[in-house]
Amino acid sequence: MKVAIVYNEAFHWIEDEYSTSAPKDLNFEPYFEIYHSDPIAEYDSIAENLRKLGYDAYILNITDDIDVFLKDFKKNKPDVIFNFVEIYRENAELESGFAGIYELLRVPYTGATPMALATCQSKYLTKGILSSMGINTPKFIYFKEPQKIYKHNLNYPIIVKPSLEDASVGIDVGAVAIDYKQLKKRIDYIFAEFKQPVLIEEYIPGREFNVAVLGDKRPKVLPISEIDFSSMPDHLHNIVSFQAKWDPMHEAYHKTIPICPAIMPNKIEAEAHDIALKAFKAMGCRDYARIDMRLSRDNKLYVLEVNPNPDLTEDAGFMRSMACAGYSYKRSLKTILEFAIKRGKTMPK
Ligand SMILES: Nc1ncnc2c1ncn2[C@@H]1O[C@H](COP(=O)(O)OP(=O)(O)O)[C@@H](O)[C@H]1O
Ligand SMILES: [Mg+2]
Repeated sequence: MKVAIVYNEAFHWIEDEYSTSAPKDLNFEPYFEIYHSDPIAEYDSIAENLRKLGYDAYILNITDDIDVFLKDFKKNKPDVIFNFVEIYRENAELESGFAGIYELLRVPYTGATPMALATCQSKYLTKGILSSMGINTPKFIYFKEPQKIYKHNLNYPIIVKPSLEDASVGIDVGAVAIDYKQLKKRIDYIFAEFKQPVLIEEYIPGREFNVAVLGDKRPKVLPISEIDFSSMPDHLHNIVSFQAKWDPMHEAYHKTIPICPAIMPNKIEAEAHDIALKAFKAMGCRDYARIDMRLSRDNKLYVLEVNPNPDLTEDAGFMRSMACAGYSYKRSLKTILEFAIKRGKTMPK
């Protein structure tokens, strides 16, 4: 069984941006080890794990060039694709287009379909679909273009997001506004910087859960992970900001600590399971996904967003939940790959 591990690493911008400051400059106690992740080494390790399981696996970095993929596809004729393409030519909206190529080539691939990838890419559309199915999501308003006055009836604090990004892009430590002045400044900034519609929503103070779902026809919920904000200093909001996700030199990175399994009352846990499965199905997710939720102080769960094809590297959230459910890293990769292989068996050519 020939497996192409397809990904797109044309730039190393995140690493480059932060590699200049030295750990000795930090004015807080780091919690995590400070290292620069090397995405290419991570794909190598995935290939190595799959080879150990007996698959004929190889990695393919498409380097922002569709021809690289097509040439390889013709030459190597993979039986199945492990899809890690999340962005094309710096445009996250083209993630779904890339999966569309697999569909047209009639090759089985892991993860969500183009439709699910495209719908979830829009936080606004996702919220619309979830709300229409009775799934709770923070109250929101969507602005297509910059305006002189942003009229709204939301309660402060309000969080401002670019509508079409993920991985906390545009949701940095300044994303939460506590009054209209901050809100207007932030919305104008997001329009200028990201040139796309802006979503504003009521900020839900409280606990944050990541609920991982695994499966194709019969998806199941994995042990829930929580982000522990208890050591976050007062001058930072309790959010998983861009800095918290990506910048090991920033304090927020060390004060957003994942815990799995999260401890919560059985009733809330059962509700989180139910909501995660409903959201997974409503958005057309497949194989693996992660649903981000908040639990308000009055014990209501709110879905923030649905992430099809979340990060599968060993120390990322999805694999933490898999490990917590008793799956080794190897077995996790195999389980996900086998969903695609199974679909391939009944796929019309
Ligand atoms: N309505 C909200 N209330 C409280 N925190 C929020 C809200 N929306 C987003 N956040 C915070 O911002 C983070 C990133 O937002 P999210 O919508 O999940 O976007 P991304 O796709 O960038 O992960 C969340 O993990 C959470 O910490
Ligand atoms: Mg998120």
